[in-house]
Order: sequence, then C-alpha cells, then structure tokens
Amino acid sequence: MAYEVPARVRENAATPIHDLDRYREHWSRAERDPDAFWLAVTKERIAWRKEPTQGLEGSFHTIADGPLSWFGDGELNVTESCLDRHLETQPDKVAILWEGDEPSDVRKITYRELHAEVCKAANALKELGLEKGERAIIYMGMVPEAAVAMLACARIGAIHSVVFGGFSAEALRDRVRDCEAEVVITQDWGLRGSKTIPLKNVVDEACQGEAKVKKVLVVKRTGDEVGWTEGRDVWWHDAVDSASPEHAAEIVPAEHPLFVLYTSGSTGRPKGVVHTSGGYITYTSYTHATVFDLRPDDVYACVADVGWITGHSYIVYGPLANGATTLMFESIPTYPDAGRYWDMVARHGISIFYTAPTAIRVLAAQGEEPVKKHDRSTLRVLGTVGEPINPEAWEWYYDVVGEKGCNIVDTWWQTETGGIAISPIAPATPTKPGSATYPMPGIIPSLRTPEGQVLRGPSQGLLCIDHPWPGQARTVWGDHPRFVATYFNHVPGAYFTGDGCRRDEDGYYWVTGRVDDVLNVSGHRMGTAEFESAIVSVDACAEAAIVAYPHPVKGQGVYAYVVAREGKAIDKAELQAACRKEIGAHARIDRMQIVPGLPKTRSGKVMRRILRKIAEGRGDELGDTSTLADPGVVEAIREGAVTSDD
Ligand code: PRX
Repeated sequence: MAYEVPARVRENAATPIHDLDRYREHWSRAERDPDAFWLAVTKERIAWRKEPTQGLEGSFHTIADGPLSWFGDGELNVTESCLDRHLETQPDKVAILWEGDEPSDVRKITYRELHAEVCKAANALKELGLEKGERAIIYMGMVPEAAVAMLACARIGAIHSVVFGGFSAEALRDRVRDCEAEVVITQDWGLRGSKTIPLKNVVDEACQGEAKVKKVLVVKRTGDEVGWTEGRDVWWHDAVDSASPEHAAEIVPAEHPLFVLYTSGSTGRPKGVVHTSGGYITYTSYTHATVFDLRPDDVYACVADVGWITGHSYIVYGPLANGATTLMFESIPTYPDAGRYWDMVARHGISIFYTAPTAIRVLAAQGEEPVKKHDRSTLRVLGTVGEPINPEAWEWYYDVVGEKGCNIVDTWWQTETGGIAISPIAPATPTKPGSATYPMPGIIPSLRTPEGQVLRGPSQGLLCIDHPWPGQARTVWGDHPRFVATYFNHVPGAYFTGDGCRRDEDGYYWVTGRVDDVLNVSGHRMGTAEFESAIVSVDACAEAAIVAYPHPVKGQGVYAYVVAREGKAIDKAELQAACRKEIGAHARIDRMQIVPGLPKTRSGKVMRRILRKIAEGRGDELGDTSTLADPGVVEAIREGAVTSDD
C-alpha cells in the first residue's frame, strides 16, 4: 500500500520540488546533464569566493588514476556558507539549539554568536600551531563546542576527524595514528543519561607515547577531575574565550579535504573516508533542504551524534549552510523517561525530526502513553536513517508519533555517499512503509548480479550507483588503492554500496541491508574483522567468526562462534571486555557459542554463509556443504546453536 502525502506536509509546500512530476523532471535533468544541474545548484546554494565553471572531472572508469573532482576551479571556505552570509540576513536566528542531558539544560546560540565562537576557536587553534591541511581529532560528546570545533578546523583549512565518544582508547589511538593528528580536541567528561564518560582520560591513554600530538584542547563540561599533561593540555576556556572574535576564513580550492571520518568495512581496520569542501557542502545543503521540505521557520532536530556521518551532514553542515535552527541533543531517548523526544518536540516546537529505526523500536516497545502526553502538533516531517526500517516501526512512527499527518522520509545513504542518496522528498513522494522510495536527483542507482550485470525492471540485486555525485567520498585517507579496491573493483565503472536491494513494480527501492561482512547493530556500523581480532587477542581463543542475526530492537545482533585453544577454557566476560577495549562500549556480543572448529572449505576459507544460517535459526536450510573440509563440524555447531541473548 502507498501513502499519499499527508495534509500537514502539503500545505504551503514551497520548495523547488513539491510534486512527483517536478521530482521526475529534476531527476531527468540531473541525469541528462549532471554538470549543468550541479553547477546551477551550487551557485544558488553556496557562497563561493570564486565561482566554479567546471563540473565533474574524472569518472568511475578512471578512478584508479586518482580521485574525482567536482567544481575543480572554484574556491571557498565552507564556514562562510554556514555562518558569515547569515550574518547579513538573520544574525539573531538561533543556529544551534542545544539540549543537555538534563531537560532543563538548554542553550540557544544565534548565528551571530556561533560565528564569533567559531572565529575565536579558529584563532585559538592557529595559536596552538594547527595549520591548514593538518589534522585534528575531535573526541567529544554532544556539546555545542563539538560543532564549534569542527567549524573552526574548517575555517582555518585544517582537516577534522571526529571520533564517536563511545570508542575505546585503542580505537582512538588507531585513528590518531592513521591520520597523524597534531591536535586532539576533547572535553573533561561526557554526560549521557546521568552517566559520566571519561573522555579526557581516554584521550590520555590513547595519546600516550604519540609524539605527533602536540596539543590537547579540553572543554570543561562537568568540572570533574581529569589527568593533565603540562605543556600539552590546554583548557578551551583559557585558549578560546580570550581569542579575537574576528577571523578571515582561509579560502581553499573546492577539492580541499574538509574531514576524514573512519568507518568499518569488510576487512581490516576502519578506513578514513575523505570528504572534500565544495561538493560536500553543495550536496548536504541541497539534500537537507529538499528531502525535509525545509522552510525558514522550521525547528529542525536530528538526534544523531556528531561522531557519525549523520551528525556531520545533517546536524552541522547541511542545516547550517541552509541557515536553519538545528538541535544538538546530549542525552538518550529514554532519559529521564521514554517521552524525552516528544517532550523536546513540545517545548521547542520541533517541526522536522530525524532519528534511527532502532530508537523508534525501543520507544514503540514502551507503548503510546509517553508519546501522547506531549503535544506534537508542530511536527511535519519525520525522518529515519541508519538501517532498514521494518514496516511495523514505520507504521508506529507514522500513526502514533505523526498522528497520520506527517510525511515519513526513510533516507538511505552511507558515510561514503556524504548525504542522502535514496529517499522520499517530503512533499512530493507517496511512501510505502519500509521503502526508501526513489533516488535523489543526481543519483543513478543500478541493481546488479554478482557478476556485475545490470538488472532491469522489478528485481533484486546488489545496489550500485552508476554516476558520480558531488557529495561522495573522494578517497581513503592515505590509501587511494584501498578506496578503489573497496568500492570500484566489484563492478568496474560503478560504485558498489555493499548493500542488497529490491526494486518493485513501481520503481521503489527497498534496501535490504549489507551483503558484505559489515554489521549494523542499532545503526552502528562495525566490521566482523574488528570483532574477530578483538576476540582472538584473548589468549584462550584460537579462532573466531562473527556473523549477524536478526534482532527485534537492534536490527542486527552479534553472534560469535569461538574456538578455544587446546586445554583452555573460555571466559565469556573476558571476551566482552576485549571487544570493549579494542572497539568500544557499543561493541557487545549478544550470543556466543563455543565450537569445536569453524566450517571451512578445503582451501581454508571460513564458510560464513553456513554460520549465518545457523545464527538465524535456519540451520536446516544449509544447502550444499560438499565443499567443506570437515562436515562433522557443522553438525556439532548446529546442535549447540544459541537461541537466546546473553
Ligand atoms: O546498510 C546501509 C545502512 O547503513 C549503511 C551505512 O552505514 P553508515 O555508513 O554508518 O551510515 C549510516 C548513516 C547514513 C548502509 O550501507 N542504511 C543506512 N540507511 C538506511 C540503511 N539501510 C536501509 N535503509 C536505510 N534508510
């Protein structure tokens, strides 16, 4: 069944795309002449110092020769689009609406104030010795200074790399090393759901012996005690508060890197995905305004974390480029109770709300009462991102939260795509629960067989994108061959997303999830290889294989098959601790099975397909196991399969 556009959304639709015919016209225009389409978009939306005349240079066919370029002869500083130009038109509009861990802790930062703060922080970072092109790691909770730090780096042409505040010291050290950071920006302690998180102490552990890190800039959030390294550590209030509120932005070429964001893949350590300036800000601004039907008086709330791409693109860069009021939320959806989101909607008059399916499922399990007791009549558009949304969760969001009056936008995209790639456009697209509907203008998806053949019409296959778009990642930090091998070797000439997808008879896309060894647990992307390496770091473990199984709340759960070393006993708590230490607090094994061996082919390759089936409770549908070296192992695994979470 398809849902027509609800009344609240249709009224006053003033964006350039407000019906399906308009959408189709824009999509065709972008397909026919991408350069003309995107040059027009960027000139309309972005404050360039030198307007570009070039569109795309390079192609997916020649990507091995070097990164693509968009708007190559243009020059800008993205913070002028996010801040300076709004000073002329709306200096007193709230830019960042911050809600702290306690509902009473609210800060409203206007564009004028944000501009001054960013300039001060930019001057302070320069003073600390951070130069254009150098890297700064940002390891913080959701405080306004996290956004200020990102923008301040961008202002001076430095490259930020935000690391989610849940990652462990080891994971942080890997990232500090990989991007050779000169500066780390953090806070004393984080605060979430009344719990404190020792951010500065984790930074200290991560940076021990890392001589390259010259300065650690520390925001005071809780005032609780932290370790201090004289000469290296600097309080934010000492360095920033007294700095000048004026700063001339460093003007950079369009392809100057804006940030590196680490994300997990099928193999090896997380990759530093690189996004650049002109294309990224164009794409995030365009998609943010278009998908959400953004209007000048909207109060826009994305409750993600700046540690992930959603926070970069749709809390900070897209909304600020569009001069919107954007919420930053420090807490969790269930603190102090399950009505927190809706209480915020009522208190702040939020009109656009963007969250993840896992949060919707957690809240739906608490019933309707915590939703209904808060006034949600200001809501118009409800977004979801991060994982496939099951139709039941979609219906609950639509019926209970939105009272059947809001448009649901199920936005499919990835760290690598930079911005939303497949999604309904709020006023234009009739929706179907569980489908991300149609591609954005400029996105040309294809479904393929594993051999790369294009499937036409209704079909199911591997989701690829056939033509470059301005917001896409350009490379992997320090390793362009890895970028090419990861995304462009499966199907020469096309970008491979790693997702499976179905297209129905109306041309609607239904993304089914990863087809590679990437896990998506509560919207957190993690690699099986990272888990496995953490587990085998425990002495008693000889081997491990991790697979996902469907989980009613988290989307996917983590199932570990572990082989003990001869004569050793496995302590499950020790394995959990190893995952927490190597990856972070969000890396938890849900089900663990000690097995006598792993099913392998005669050439020694672990047959994950079999392990996946058993973890999914489909051990009687294993299909052909004749290539196994030792079929007896499978029988033993099947018999001992774990069917309930730890
Ligand atoms: O599998 C897809 C899933 O999340 C992956 C990307 O994860 P990440 O890079 O962490 O970015 C998440 C936020 C953009 C994708 O490969 N995914 C994301 N959104 C959806 C989705 N799967 C289905 N439907 C979605 N709306």
